[in-house]
Amino acid sequence: MTAPRRNVELKAADPEPARTLERALAAGAEDRGTIVQRDTYFRVARGRLKLREEQPGDAHLIAYERPDDAAVRVSAYRVVPAPDPPALLAALAGTLGVDVVVAKRRRLLLWETVRIHLDEVEGLGTFLELEAVEGPGSDLARGREQVAHLREQLGIEDGALREGSYADALRPAPDPELLALAREAAGRAYAPYSRFPVGAALRTTDGRRYAGANVENAAYPQGQCAEASAIGAMVAGGGGEIAEVVVAAPSEQECSPCGGCRQRMREFAGPDAPVHLADLERVRRTTTLAELLPLSFGPESLA
Ligand code: THU
Repeated sequence: MTAPRRNVELKAADPEPARTLERALAAGAEDRGTIVQRDTYFRVARGRLKLREEQPGDAHLIAYERPDDAAVRVSAYRVVPAPDPPALLAALAGTLGVDVVVAKRRRLLLWETVRIHLDEVEGLGTFLELEAVEGPGSDLARGREQVAHLREQLGIEDGALREGSYADALRPAPDPELLALAREAAGRAYAPYSRFPVGAALRTTDGRRYAGANVENAAYPQGQCAEASAIGAMVAGGGGEIAEVVVAAPSEQECSPCGGCRQRMREFAGPDAPVHLADLERVRRTTTLAELLPLSFGPESLA
């Protein structure tokens, strides 16, 4: 099998694509015209998998590892030709399920080995991407230099840089109050043993919000997760169905609910209930209960 390809990438919001186009042409980029692209992302356990259909052009299945989150980042990916896109779409949508669809118009320019994308993304707005395509075994130094040079030429300010993918940005943002509640709860967690404070907040389908924090204990196994505390508060407040969950932890790593808490949420939430995993600055990932707990056992399994 061939090694995955690697890119050095940068993404930025671009409120003035016409000006950027002029600057890119002035910098010596070659205009390759406009492509209409439709990316269907499938639900997968690891990395990302999407079917890219383009006009003009052929369809491809693209698999990649989750890139690092930095504004200038490296991603490794594989591109496989997809000669029969409708059949592939039906096969993958029917088994894995569709996560999100990203539709855009892309003006493509080339400068040295860097692709410049001026993207108009449905539902999101206009963006600029730089992708320095690296050869196998490259130390990525050249790509980083090229991206830095073009950044300068195109006048991309720090404030315009965007970390996440279009697919992530299209997922619904959490209810801001729920996010604030989860972060506040994390600030009040009792976690002297792990020093890993966590806050969780739930919104019920009838609009109530409840929060909880992890509560540890000198007898370690008696510790309780934030999600369990929030569920307890919800039950004490009248119970109900969970519509949305935020788990917040001031951690370097994404804090994903433990297996036990996935089951606890399963008791009160439908499979499509969004679960947002956040830290104090940003929402790192939005997933669903079904994705966190596939093939699950729930109240209706006892019927
Ligand atoms: N913890 C939570 O409260 N929620 C999670 O989703 C993951 C882990 C807590 C349990 C324990 O107090 C600490 O984090 C370290 O495991």
